[in-house]
Amino acid sequence: MHTIVIFGASGDLTGRKLIPALYNLFLKKRLPLPLNIVGFARTAMESGAWRDKLRESAGKFASGVFTEENWKAFAPMIHYHSGDINDAGSFKALGQNLDRLEAAGSEGKSAGESHRLYYLATAPEFYAKAAAQLGAAGLAEEQADRTRRIVIEKPFGRDSDSAAALNDAIHSVFNESQMYRIDHYLGKETVNNILVLRFANAIFEPVWNRNYIDGIQITANEDILVGRRAPYYENAGVLRDMFQNHLLQILTFVAMEPPARFRAKEIRDEKVKILQSIRAMPSEEAAVNSVRGQYRSYRDEEGAAKDSQTATYGAVRLFIDNWRWKDVPVYLRSGKGMSCRTTQIVINFRQPPHSMFGGSAGGAVNRLLLQLQPAEGIQLHFMTKIPDSDMMLRMSELNFNFKNSFRGEMPDSYERLLLDALNGDASLFARNDEVEAAWRIIDPIQKAWDSGNVQPVEFYETGSTGPAQAARWIESFGQSWFDLCPSV
Ligand code: BG6
Repeated sequence: MHTIVIFGASGDLTGRKLIPALYNLFLKKRLPLPLNIVGFARTAMESGAWRDKLRESAGKFASGVFTEENWKAFAPMIHYHSGDINDAGSFKALGQNLDRLEAAGSEGKSAGESHRLYYLATAPEFYAKAAAQLGAAGLAEEQADRTRRIVIEKPFGRDSDSAAALNDAIHSVFNESQMYRIDHYLGKETVNNILVLRFANAIFEPVWNRNYIDGIQITANEDILVGRRAPYYENAGVLRDMFQNHLLQILTFVAMEPPARFRAKEIRDEKVKILQSIRAMPSEEAAVNSVRGQYRSYRDEEGAAKDSQTATYGAVRLFIDNWRWKDVPVYLRSGKGMSCRTTQIVINFRQPPHSMFGGSAGGAVNRLLLQLQPAEGIQLHFMTKIPDSDMMLRMSELNFNFKNSFRGEMPDSYERLLLDALNGDASLFARNDEVEAAWRIIDPIQKAWDSGNVQPVEFYETGSTGPAQAARWIESFGQSWFDLCPSV
């Protein structure tokens, strides 16, 4: 018998992501059955009322076909338990409820087996408390046929010290092997495909290094604004919201050495090595190696301070000090209120050592473009002779597009991650040392931005490509942004 307990059951994430993902997995017949989904939140409510609420959100957000018949088959798995994270009694009652549900659901099948996944979808200030209460109520102990895993949403801490303290607090109840720190970018198919592109093909790896690559750009731009998330965002800003987790995770996939096996330990060992190889940046250098901005109407968002210095745009220049990447600049950038939504990786190759074609070939570089979303695909840019011309050259592209090559929708990343956590595969979850190493990269930059010794945030118009200084900044290093709004 499997059980998922969702703490923060009345939150946005549960209705928009978790339940639709579980519903889709149910339709695809991938869920381990029998399964109970138990929501835990403070509001007093019957299971039936919660199911009705979720029915609405599943109808709206699930990509799989939503029919009354499918929902009726899925909904009986859903239960609600009202309780308070600060109240030990609530956890005792939860334990009894889970025992009862397991006994009722097993009916002789796989008797005695009990696999529980506790999903912390609450506000982050409750993570440590929820873990402590689970421990105190005896709900965290594992035995051979009783697994107890805990999934923790981002943000995991707000700097390296608080992340380490949170790790310590949760480790006093759960072992590292029981912990699944989610970064939903790692559940994206196109992010996983980075490893396939690199390590299931022989032609890319020989040039995937400082001898052939001149620079790497990883962009995660969004056209949406901060909106009603401003109270959270004011305390986070773009570095904590997008860089510490998503952008650095993508970078580890782009830059890591091939793991010996496709297994959690080996993959995560290689990722940590990359994070630890990133050149330490003292706060004084952080100002030179980064740019920040704020979309002009941000201060009007409800919950944003009228003189807020919170960055909604950031760009950072990093170096990975190892044999493969020494002195190859890596540019990470992300912004809200941009001209379009695009998450992409650009690998810029070096210029040919000598050009015999003169003017029209000048300055052109081969480029590999990995579009992670929304126009999922890969393009290789290369020079071609313009037919019927006198040796005039132009950049052309080879284009691969997931939509044209494969049928079906891209699954939501939560489907993959929930299934992996249920099956005990931690490959796509961040380990404690990984999270702390990522914070150590972000901390000095954040500190420099918070210090007041830097220029105030530069405003940019919504629907633009970010603050004007971002273009000048990258040009000062002899490079330029590759800006592309994908056609979906
Ligand atoms: C979240 C951030 O982690 O990722 C949001 O908190 C951001 O600010 C979101 O909008 C982007 O996710 P996706 O999957 O839409 O690219």
